[in-house]
Amino acid sequence: MIPEIEALASKTIERIAAAENPEALETVRVEVLGRKGSLADFGKLMGKLSAEDRVSAGKALNSAKTSLEAAYEIKKTAFESAALNERLQNEWLDLTIPPTGILPGSLHPLTQIQNEIESLFFSLGFAILDGPEVETEFYNFDALNIPPDHPARDMQDTFWLEGGHLLRTHTSPVQIRGMQRLGPPLRMIAPGRVFRNEEVDPSHEHTFYQLEGMMVDRDVSVANLLYFMKTLLSGIFKRDVTVRLRPGFFPFVEPGFELDIQCMVCGGSGCPVCKHSGWVELLPCGLTHPNVLRAGGIDPDQYGGFAFGLGLTRLVMMRYLIDDIRWLQSGDLRFLKQF
Ligand code: DAH
Repeated sequence: MIPEIEALASKTIERIAAAENPEALETVRVEVLGRKGSLADFGKLMGKLSAEDRVSAGKALNSAKTSLEAAYEIKKTAFESAALNERLQNEWLDLTIPPTGILPGSLHPLTQIQNEIESLFFSLGFAILDGPEVETEFYNFDALNIPPDHPARDMQDTFWLEGGHLLRTHTSPVQIRGMQRLGPPLRMIAPGRVFRNEEVDPSHEHTFYQLEGMMVDRDVSVANLLYFMKTLLSGIFKRDVTVRLRPGFFPFVEPGFELDIQCMVCGGSGCPVCKHSGWVELLPCGLTHPNVLRAGGIDPDQYGGFAFGLGLTRLVMMRYLIDDIRWLQSGDLRFLKQF
Protein backbone atom coordinates (compact mmCIF):
# COMPACT_ATOMS: atom_id res chain seq x y z
CA MET A 1 0.00 0.00 0.00
CA ILE A 2 2.91 2.32 0.73
CA PRO A 3 3.92 2.73 -2.96
CA GLU A 4 0.32 3.68 -3.83
CA ILE A 5 0.29 6.26 -1.05
CA GLU A 6 3.58 7.71 -2.21
CA ALA A 7 2.40 7.75 -5.83
CA LEU A 8 -0.78 9.57 -4.80
CA ALA A 9 1.28 12.02 -2.76
CA SER A 10 3.68 12.94 -5.53
CA LYS A 11 0.89 13.21 -8.09
CA THR A 12 -1.11 15.42 -5.77
CA ILE A 13 1.90 17.65 -5.14
CA GLU A 14 2.09 18.16 -8.91
CA ARG A 15 -1.64 18.88 -9.14
CA ILE A 16 -1.39 21.43 -6.34
CA ALA A 17 1.54 23.12 -8.02
CA ALA A 18 -0.34 23.18 -11.32
CA ALA A 19 -3.61 24.57 -9.90
CA GLU A 20 -4.28 27.82 -11.71
CA ASN A 21 -6.86 29.29 -9.38
CA PRO A 22 -8.36 28.82 -5.92
CA GLU A 23 -11.25 26.80 -7.36
CA ALA A 24 -8.88 24.25 -8.96
CA LEU A 25 -6.92 24.03 -5.71
CA GLU A 26 -10.13 23.44 -3.78
CA THR A 27 -11.06 20.58 -6.14
CA VAL A 28 -7.74 18.88 -5.41
CA ARG A 29 -8.23 19.36 -1.68
CA VAL A 30 -11.70 17.82 -1.74
CA GLU A 31 -10.62 14.89 -3.93
CA VAL A 32 -7.52 14.04 -1.93
CA LEU A 33 -7.61 15.57 1.52
CA GLY A 34 -11.40 15.80 1.98
CA ARG A 35 -13.50 13.58 4.26
CA LYS A 36 -14.39 11.35 1.32
CA GLY A 37 -11.10 11.86 -0.52
CA SER A 38 -8.40 9.41 -1.58
CA LEU A 39 -6.42 9.65 1.65
CA ALA A 40 -9.55 8.79 3.63
CA ASP A 41 -10.04 5.78 1.36
CA PHE A 42 -6.57 4.56 2.24
CA GLY A 43 -7.40 5.08 5.89
CA LYS A 44 -10.42 2.79 5.59
CA LEU A 45 -8.29 0.07 4.00
CA MET A 46 -5.91 0.23 6.95
CA GLY A 47 -8.02 -2.11 9.05
CA LYS A 48 -7.44 -4.96 6.60
CA LEU A 49 -3.66 -4.83 7.00
CA SER A 50 -1.58 -6.86 9.40
CA ALA A 51 -0.62 -5.05 12.57
CA GLU A 52 2.94 -4.66 11.34
CA ASP A 53 1.99 -3.31 7.91
CA ARG A 54 -0.60 -1.07 9.52
CA VAL A 55 2.08 0.77 11.48
CA SER A 56 4.30 1.46 8.46
CA ALA A 57 1.33 2.25 6.15
CA GLY A 58 -0.07 4.49 8.85
CA LYS A 59 3.20 6.40 9.06
CA ALA A 60 3.31 6.76 5.28
CA LEU A 61 -0.28 7.92 5.20
CA ASN A 62 0.32 10.49 7.97
CA SER A 63 3.45 11.90 6.36
CA ALA A 64 1.67 12.08 2.97
CA LYS A 65 -1.19 13.92 4.65
CA THR A 66 1.13 16.34 6.46
CA SER A 67 3.14 17.23 3.38
CA LEU A 68 0.03 17.56 1.18
CA GLU A 69 -1.65 19.83 3.72
CA ALA A 70 1.49 21.94 3.90
CA ALA A 71 1.66 22.18 0.10
CA TYR A 72 -2.04 23.07 0.04
CA GLU A 73 -1.61 25.83 2.65
CA ILE A 74 1.36 27.36 0.83
CA LYS A 75 -0.53 27.44 -2.45
CA LYS A 76 -3.65 28.82 -0.81
CA THR A 77 -1.67 31.59 0.88
CA ALA A 78 -0.07 32.42 -2.48
CA PHE A 79 -3.50 32.78 -4.09
CA GLU A 80 -4.71 34.96 -1.22
CA SER A 81 -1.79 37.32 -1.32
CA ALA A 82 -2.06 37.55 -5.12
CA ALA A 83 -5.73 38.48 -4.73
CA LEU A 84 -4.89 41.05 -2.07
CA ASN A 85 -2.17 42.56 -4.24
CA GLU A 86 -4.59 42.86 -7.10
CA ARG A 87 -7.12 44.67 -4.88
CA LEU A 88 -4.43 46.99 -3.60
CA GLN A 89 -3.53 47.78 -7.19
CA ASN A 90 -7.04 48.40 -8.39
CA GLU A 91 -8.89 49.78 -5.41
CA TRP A 92 -7.97 53.10 -3.88
CA LEU A 93 -9.43 55.64 -1.55
CA ASP A 94 -8.45 59.31 -1.65
CA LEU A 95 -9.32 60.79 1.71
CA THR A 96 -8.55 64.30 0.48
CA ILE A 97 -11.34 64.42 -2.11
CA PRO A 98 -14.16 66.73 -0.92
CA PRO A 99 -17.46 64.92 -0.42
CA THR A 100 -19.97 65.22 -3.23
CA GLY A 101 -23.68 65.81 -2.87
CA ILE A 102 -23.51 68.10 0.15
CA LEU A 103 -24.24 71.71 -0.76
CA PRO A 104 -22.64 74.40 1.36
CA GLY A 105 -25.22 76.63 3.01
CA SER A 106 -25.39 80.35 2.31
CA LEU A 107 -26.88 83.42 3.90
CA HIS A 108 -30.31 84.42 2.66
CA PRO A 109 -30.05 87.42 0.30
CA LEU A 110 -32.04 89.50 2.79
CA THR A 111 -29.54 88.69 5.51
CA GLN A 112 -26.67 89.55 3.19
CA ILE A 113 -28.10 92.98 2.37
CA GLN A 114 -29.00 93.61 5.99
CA ASN A 115 -25.43 92.81 7.05
CA GLU A 116 -24.04 95.17 4.43
CA ILE A 117 -26.28 98.05 5.42
CA GLU A 118 -25.61 97.46 9.09
CA SER A 119 -21.87 97.70 8.61
CA LEU A 120 -22.30 100.81 6.43
CA PHE A 121 -24.32 102.61 9.11
CA PHE A 122 -22.21 101.22 11.92
CA SER A 123 -19.22 102.91 10.29
CA LEU A 124 -21.22 106.18 10.28
CA GLY A 125 -21.77 105.98 14.03
CA PHE A 126 -25.28 104.52 14.06
CA ALA A 127 -26.41 102.08 16.77
CA ILE A 128 -28.16 98.94 15.56
CA LEU A 129 -31.36 98.38 17.51
CA ASP A 130 -33.93 95.65 17.74
CA GLY A 131 -37.60 96.02 18.59
CA PRO A 132 -40.47 93.64 19.33
CA GLU A 133 -42.53 92.21 16.47
CA VAL A 134 -45.57 92.16 18.73
CA GLU A 135 -46.11 95.84 19.48
CA THR A 136 -48.59 98.00 21.30
CA GLU A 137 -50.91 100.41 19.57
CA PHE A 138 -49.05 103.20 21.32
CA TYR A 139 -45.64 102.46 19.77
CA ASN A 140 -46.95 101.40 16.37
CA PHE A 141 -49.39 104.30 15.93
CA ASP A 142 -50.05 106.89 18.67
CA ALA A 143 -46.46 107.80 19.45
CA LEU A 144 -45.80 108.14 15.72
CA ASN A 145 -48.46 110.81 15.45
CA ILE A 146 -50.79 108.49 13.56
CA PRO A 147 -54.30 109.57 14.63
CA PRO A 148 -56.94 106.99 15.59
CA ASP A 149 -58.90 107.53 12.36
CA HIS A 150 -55.86 107.04 10.10
CA PRO A 151 -56.50 104.42 7.37
CA ALA A 152 -53.29 102.58 8.33
CA ARG A 153 -55.09 101.39 11.46
CA ASP A 154 -57.78 99.83 9.33
CA MET A 155 -58.64 96.20 10.03
CA GLN A 156 -57.56 95.47 6.46
CA ASP A 157 -53.94 96.40 7.04
CA THR A 158 -53.15 95.51 10.62
CA PHE A 159 -53.05 92.10 12.22
CA TRP A 160 -54.68 92.86 15.55
CA LEU A 161 -54.00 90.67 18.54
CA GLU A 162 -55.74 90.44 21.87
CA GLY A 163 -55.35 93.10 24.54
CA GLY A 164 -54.58 96.04 22.24
CA HIS A 165 -51.47 94.35 20.84
CA LEU A 166 -50.72 94.00 17.16
CA LEU A 167 -48.06 92.72 14.77
CA ARG A 168 -46.02 95.79 13.96
CA THR A 169 -46.89 97.15 10.54
CA HIS A 170 -43.55 98.94 10.18
CA THR A 171 -40.19 99.31 11.94
CA SER A 172 -40.95 102.94 12.86
CA PRO A 173 -41.98 102.08 16.46
CA VAL A 174 -38.29 101.34 17.11
CA GLN A 175 -37.68 105.10 16.59
CA ILE A 176 -39.67 105.78 19.75
CA ARG A 177 -38.02 102.97 21.69
CA GLY A 178 -34.62 104.19 20.45
CA MET A 179 -35.23 107.78 21.57
CA GLN A 180 -36.43 106.58 24.97
CA ARG A 181 -33.43 104.32 25.40
CA LEU A 182 -30.59 106.38 23.97
CA GLY A 183 -31.68 109.98 24.51
CA PRO A 184 -30.41 112.82 22.31
CA PRO A 185 -28.26 113.12 20.30
CA LEU A 186 -28.62 109.74 18.67
CA ARG A 187 -28.11 107.80 15.48
CA MET A 188 -29.79 104.44 15.08
CA ILE A 189 -31.00 101.91 12.59
CA ALA A 190 -33.45 99.10 13.22
CA PRO A 191 -33.82 96.31 10.68
CA GLY A 192 -36.69 93.90 11.12
CA ARG A 193 -39.71 91.95 10.06
CA VAL A 194 -43.06 93.67 9.64
CA PHE A 195 -46.56 92.40 8.94
CA ARG A 196 -49.55 93.59 6.97
CA ASN A 197 -52.88 92.02 6.33
CA GLU A 198 -52.61 92.17 2.54
CA GLU A 199 -53.47 90.02 -0.43
CA VAL A 200 -50.31 88.24 -1.53
CA ASP A 201 -49.24 88.91 -5.11
CA PRO A 202 -45.91 89.32 -6.98
CA SER A 203 -45.17 92.57 -5.16
CA HIS A 204 -47.01 92.13 -1.84
CA GLU A 205 -46.41 89.80 1.07
CA HIS A 206 -48.06 89.74 4.48
CA THR A 207 -44.55 89.50 5.99
CA PHE A 208 -41.64 91.54 4.77
CA TYR A 209 -38.55 93.39 5.95
CA GLN A 210 -37.80 97.05 6.54
CA LEU A 211 -34.90 98.98 7.92
CA GLU A 212 -35.68 102.05 9.95
CA GLY A 213 -33.16 104.80 10.44
CA MET A 214 -33.12 107.87 12.64
CA MET A 215 -30.77 110.64 13.58
CA VAL A 216 -31.52 113.20 16.27
CA ASP A 217 -29.24 116.13 16.93
CA ARG A 218 -29.21 119.89 17.10
CA ASP A 219 -29.83 121.54 13.69
CA VAL A 220 -30.67 118.47 11.63
CA SER A 221 -31.76 119.53 8.14
CA VAL A 222 -32.95 118.09 4.84
CA ALA A 223 -29.36 118.45 3.64
CA ASN A 224 -28.22 116.00 6.35
CA LEU A 225 -31.01 113.65 5.37
CA LEU A 226 -30.08 113.73 1.69
CA TYR A 227 -26.42 113.18 2.45
CA PHE A 228 -27.16 109.99 4.36
CA MET A 229 -29.66 108.77 1.80
CA LYS A 230 -27.16 109.23 -1.03
CA THR A 231 -24.42 107.51 0.98
CA LEU A 232 -26.81 104.65 1.63
CA LEU A 233 -27.82 104.21 -2.02
CA SER A 234 -24.32 104.38 -3.44
CA GLY A 235 -23.16 101.94 -0.76
CA ILE A 236 -25.88 99.49 -1.69
CA PHE A 237 -25.95 99.63 -5.46
CA LYS A 238 -22.31 100.47 -6.21
CA ARG A 239 -23.46 101.89 -9.51
CA ASP A 240 -25.51 104.82 -10.79
CA VAL A 241 -29.13 104.61 -9.77
CA THR A 242 -31.72 106.99 -11.13
CA VAL A 243 -33.71 108.43 -8.24
CA ARG A 244 -36.47 110.96 -7.83
CA LEU A 245 -37.64 112.80 -4.76
CA ARG A 246 -41.30 113.58 -4.32
CA PRO A 247 -43.16 115.14 -1.47
CA GLY A 248 -44.76 112.38 0.55
CA PHE A 249 -47.07 112.35 3.51
CA PHE A 250 -46.30 110.35 6.62
CA PRO A 251 -47.75 111.50 9.93
CA PHE A 252 -44.42 111.11 11.73
CA VAL A 253 -42.38 113.42 9.48
CA GLU A 254 -42.72 117.01 8.32
CA PRO A 255 -41.73 117.62 5.60
CA GLY A 256 -41.95 114.08 4.27
CA PHE A 257 -40.50 112.69 1.06
CA GLU A 258 -40.74 109.66 -1.15
CA LEU A 259 -37.41 108.70 -2.60
CA ASP A 260 -38.10 106.46 -5.58
CA ILE A 261 -35.56 104.59 -7.67
CA GLN A 262 -36.01 103.63 -11.27
CA CYS A 263 -37.12 100.01 -11.44
CA MET A 264 -34.10 97.82 -12.06
CA VAL A 265 -36.09 94.76 -12.92
CA CYS A 266 -37.55 96.33 -16.07
CA GLY A 267 -35.20 99.32 -16.44
CA GLY A 268 -38.14 101.70 -16.11
CA SER A 269 -40.33 100.36 -18.88
CA GLY A 270 -42.88 98.84 -16.49
CA CYS A 271 -43.31 95.39 -14.91
CA PRO A 272 -45.29 93.77 -12.08
CA VAL A 273 -42.67 94.75 -9.50
CA CYS A 274 -43.04 98.48 -10.17
CA LYS A 275 -46.75 98.08 -10.83
CA HIS A 276 -46.00 99.16 -14.43
CA SER A 277 -44.95 102.64 -13.36
CA GLY A 278 -41.20 102.29 -13.98
CA TRP A 279 -40.49 103.54 -10.42
CA VAL A 280 -40.23 101.78 -7.11
CA GLU A 281 -40.84 103.48 -3.78
CA LEU A 282 -37.78 102.52 -1.85
CA LEU A 283 -36.93 105.13 0.70
CA PRO A 284 -39.67 107.17 2.33
CA CYS A 285 -38.12 109.72 4.67
CA GLY A 286 -38.43 113.13 6.22
CA LEU A 287 -37.72 115.40 9.16
CA THR A 288 -39.08 114.02 12.40
CA HIS A 289 -42.39 115.56 13.51
CA PRO A 290 -42.20 117.46 16.85
CA ASN A 291 -44.94 115.24 18.31
CA VAL A 292 -42.80 112.17 17.63
CA LEU A 293 -39.75 113.69 19.31
CA ARG A 294 -41.94 114.52 22.28
CA ALA A 295 -43.30 110.96 22.43
CA GLY A 296 -39.70 109.81 22.55
CA GLY A 297 -39.00 112.14 25.47
CA ILE A 298 -37.00 114.67 23.43
CA ASP A 299 -37.60 118.40 23.44
CA PRO A 300 -38.37 119.50 19.84
CA ASP A 301 -37.24 123.05 20.65
CA GLN A 302 -33.75 121.76 21.41
CA TYR A 303 -33.41 118.94 18.91
CA GLY A 304 -34.46 117.98 15.41
CA GLY A 305 -34.24 114.71 13.57
CA PHE A 306 -34.61 112.87 10.33
CA ALA A 307 -35.95 109.37 9.75
CA PHE A 308 -36.25 106.94 6.90
CA GLY A 309 -37.87 103.57 6.35
CA LEU A 310 -36.01 101.48 3.81
CA GLY A 311 -37.94 98.66 2.18
CA LEU A 312 -35.39 95.89 2.61
CA THR A 313 -37.44 93.32 0.73
CA ARG A 314 -37.92 95.68 -2.22
CA LEU A 315 -34.25 96.46 -2.17
CA VAL A 316 -33.27 92.80 -2.41
CA MET A 317 -35.66 92.39 -5.32
CA MET A 318 -34.10 95.36 -7.14
CA ARG A 319 -30.57 94.27 -6.46
CA TYR A 320 -30.99 90.68 -7.63
CA LEU A 321 -33.72 91.41 -10.20
CA ILE A 322 -36.23 89.13 -8.48
CA ASP A 323 -39.60 89.53 -10.12
CA ASP A 324 -41.79 87.88 -7.51
CA ILE A 325 -41.67 88.69 -3.80
CA ARG A 326 -42.95 85.22 -2.94
CA TRP A 327 -39.60 83.62 -3.83
CA LEU A 328 -37.99 85.25 -0.80
CA GLN A 329 -39.90 83.28 1.81
CA SER A 330 -40.52 80.21 -0.32
CA GLY A 331 -37.63 78.24 1.16
CA ASP A 332 -37.14 76.91 -2.37
CA LEU A 333 -33.58 75.63 -2.71
CA ARG A 334 -33.54 76.28 -6.46
CA PHE A 335 -33.95 79.94 -5.57
CA LEU A 336 -31.68 80.03 -2.52
CA LYS A 337 -28.81 78.16 -4.19
CA GLN A 338 -28.20 81.17 -6.42
CA PHE A 339 -26.92 83.33 -3.58
N1 DAH B 1 -43.05 103.47 8.34
C1 DAH B 1 -43.36 103.80 6.98
C2 DAH B 1 -44.03 102.63 6.30
O1 DAH B 1 -43.84 101.54 6.69
C3 DAH B 1 -42.12 104.12 6.21
C4 DAH B 1 -41.48 105.39 6.64
C5 DAH B 1 -41.80 106.58 6.03
C6 DAH B 1 -40.55 105.41 7.65
C7 DAH B 1 -41.18 107.76 6.35
C8 DAH B 1 -39.93 106.60 8.02
C9 DAH B 1 -40.26 107.78 7.35
O2 DAH B 1 -39.01 106.66 8.97
O3 DAH B 1 -39.65 108.94 7.71
O4 DAH B 1 -44.71 102.81 5.34
